[in-house]
Amino acid sequence: MKIIVEENYQMLSERAAKIIADFIKKNPKCVLGLATGSTPIETYNLLVEKYKKGGISFKNITTFNLDEYSKLAPKNEQSYHFFMNKLLFSKIDIALKNTFFPTDFSPNFENYDKKIKEAGGIDLQILGIGTNGHIGFNEPGSKFSSKTRQVLLNKNTIKDNSRFFKSIKDVPKKAATMGISTIMKAKKIIFLASGENKKEAIYNSFCKKVSTKVPASILQKHKNVIVILDKAAAEKIAKKE
Ligand code: F6R
Repeated sequence: MKIIVEENYQMLSERAAKIIADFIKKNPKCVLGLATGSTPIETYNLLVEKYKKGGISFKNITTFNLDEYSKLAPKNEQSYHFFMNKLLFSKIDIALKNTFFPTDFSPNFENYDKKIKEAGGIDLQILGIGTNGHIGFNEPGSKFSSKTRQVLLNKNTIKDNSRFFKSIKDVPKKAATMGISTIMKAKKIIFLASGENKKEAIYNSFCKKVSTKVPASILQKHKNVIVILDKAAAEKIAKKE
């Protein structure tokens, strides 16, 4: 595991976008695993810039998103379909038919894993982390052997994500997520965390024993992970070093 600490969110995003763009240049037909949430927003903006400058093309790329709320229509502004379309897909040359979300396969979520396998597996997975250590929507306690499935979001996640909704009551209680075993099969992972509110989760994930209580800790066992943090997210691990 390689850990890179950047000064701030902007620099973290530039670093991530460069790694992803270089990867796409070398592997123009690759399969990308995508995350939503606040953290990758600037990375996606920068990838759009690089695309517009002619540096990269998404024409032959296939994407699999990590997760999606259950029962939110793709046109709902809070859905991850909407997020990805608005921020990235509508601004690049990707074929929408090659973009997938786990809820598209509801209720046969195991077909999402099959689809990923048929596509040749995920070459590069972008990951964020919840303040409770979740990856995708694999909440604490999720089995490391878990596959794509429907899950109940825990209170902590509902509270964290309520910032995107009018009221906490509007946050869906259920979602579909790639499983931890699905994520671990990705050939390469680029993991991003920014901000002081992630420092505890980062410490628990990378400086303590692997435990299902902290889902991201399993990444210690992945052979090809680049962790990119800003100083605020790295604060607790930096103190330890
Ligand atoms: C989203 C996802 C989540 C987020 C995590 C952090 O697709 O998989 O695990 O990465 O909740 O979200 P932000 O970036 O909003 O802090």
